Amino acid sequence: ERGGYPHFMLKEIHEQPRAVRDTLRGRVSEDFSRVELPELGLSDEDLRAIDRIHIVACGTSWHAGLVGKAAIEAFARIPVNVEIASEYRYANPIVTDRTLVIAITQSGETADTLAAMREMKKRGVRVVAITNVVGSSAAREADSTIITWAGPEIAVASTKAYTTQLVALYLLAVRLGMSRQTLTADEAREVLTGLDNLPQVVEQVLDTAPQIESFAKRYKDAHDTFFIGRGIDYAVSLEGALKLKEISYIHAEAYAAGELKHGTLALITDGVPVIALAMQPELYEKTLSNIVEVKARGAFVLGLTWVGNEDLEKTVDEVIYLPKTLPLLAPVAAVIPLQLLAYYAAVARGNDVDKPRNLAKSVTVE
Ligand code: F6R
Repeated sequence: ERGGYPHFMLKEIHEQPRAVRDTLRGRVSEDFSRVELPELGLSDEDLRAIDRIHIVACGTSWHAGLVGKAAIEAFARIPVNVEIASEYRYANPIVTDRTLVIAITQSGETADTLAAMREMKKRGVRVVAITNVVGSSAAREADSTIITWAGPEIAVASTKAYTTQLVALYLLAVRLGMSRQTLTADEAREVLTGLDNLPQVVEQVLDTAPQIESFAKRYKDAHDTFFIGRGIDYAVSLEGALKLKEISYIHAEAYAAGELKHGTLALITDGVPVIALAMQPELYEKTLSNIVEVKARGAFVLGLTWVGNEDLEKTVDEVIYLPKTLPLLAPVAAVIPLQLLAYYAAVARGNDVDKPRNLAKSVTVE
């Protein structure tokens, strides 16, 4: 049942090229000029009427939402808030009949996310669910549903659900942008071609596994680790840190790289591992200067950047090169080494990778 893999998590990490491909299938026109999401049940006119979006989710799905915000704001120029469901449901959020709520939930059964959806429906707000489970509560209760075709995810730590949530969000962002004409046909084609290429990208990134495994074995006894990045690299850092905590039990924190010097830099001392994401060319120089700051305090820095950016080698201790994508699509590539890092660290520490302590796959209680 684990298809020859020692754990479901590793199997699911390796299923990501297929999962991404299945989530794209039938949703991009052959000439890469249109996104087909009839399941949304929203016309161009409906989409043009939306004036704000609230993305609501928990945990890893919330992290996907952070990337979704960047894509929607870039392509459709609609302001997006990304909200933690357990907070949102009690926060009396400001919504109108022009608000769209997007609930992201792999299982479709997370209590807080469902409660937030119900609250919004009660207020007459339109709710779109992004879920991996056909027939789940979220799918049944939302006004419309975009299914991610990751297939069943067994390991408690979410991997392929996250990458397919990203794909669903990119598609929705392009659909919104095209309906509002904030995204030109050429720009849309560029994004859709980039999406179509992601399965191969992920395939190539999986080849970094031996390098990650070796790093994980060397750093398995670390007490603290830091993940830093800017923009959506920061969103991916949050996901990397959560994954590491969840299954390896190594303390990890994610920081917006520019925020480090406002306190956290005090924790960077000799040998502390820092995983630095430098996947955004526009932010590269700024991120690099933050990497220099942690290096100066003795950190051991593992950098992630795009193939061809050898410049990073001059500053960090080790580099993982990832295929170049459109910067906004880079999270799909960058998260994979972080999933692998959490996995190999957990294995090296002898943990129950698929069933980490204290955690359940589906959080159906508040
Ligand atoms: C972490 C993880 C959790 C879930 C969260 C929400 O690896 O899997 O953080 O993402 O519990 O679950 P869903 O998406 O089912 O609502």
